[in-house]
Amino acid sequence: MRKIGNFFTKQGCDWYKWYHSVLPETRDNGQRLLTMTHYAQPFFAKKLKQLQEHLPQNEEITTVNINFDYSAGGIHSDGYIELDEDDKIAKSYLIPISVDAIEKYYTIIFDQTSHRAVTFNSALGLGSKGITTYKQVTREEYGLSDTPFDKKVYEKYLTHLDYNALRGLTVDYIHEWKLGDAMIWPRENFHVSANFTNKNARASVLITTRYT
Ligand SMILES: [Fe+2]
Repeated sequence: MRKIGNFFTKQGCDWYKWYHSVLPETRDNGQRLLTMTHYAQPFFAKKLKQLQEHLPQNEEITTVNINFDYSAGGIHSDGYIELDEDDKIAKSYLIPISVDAIEKYYTIIFDQTSHRAVTFNSALGLGSKGITTYKQVTREEYGLSDTPFDKKVYEKYLTHLDYNALRGLTVDYIHEWKLGDAMIWPRENFHVSANFTNKNARASVLITTRYT
């Protein structure tokens, strides 16, 4: 299954935009460092339950992130991170909650995989931008071949990356972002955002799951 139409209604998309505006953040109130943990509140447990009901019964949610992207990232897999090593990783669900009125956004899924969450960001010339918990790997460590990357796909979607650094990668599928529709891929598959110009318009919810 590659997609779920209307995963969120328009109101559902708006709820996540509101939630993003009140998400936990630490602030110095002049007396103490205060962190509001809204995700620990019962209303978010209710929300998680609703999300879970949209998903196949043999999958459970491990992560929910809200992303406001102002730059196209590097190539990575959403595999396990150190603390989740024993997880049977399942799927990534990416649901746009805000899109541009004119510009189209895409996410490119590759055939190549890694069960551990890794990125090629440094190898692609992006340094450590976009990295929080994922491990950097080089082309050599991963063992990518020297076969040139599809030039047409590169020119249409990936001009923010170094063409040569893409050698050995092949495309499995290209997702087009549609408000509220979930784009789905196996967590181990490498993927990347296509390049985009409007840095202020797009936001999404990312859900990752594991098999129960
Ligand atoms: Fe990802």
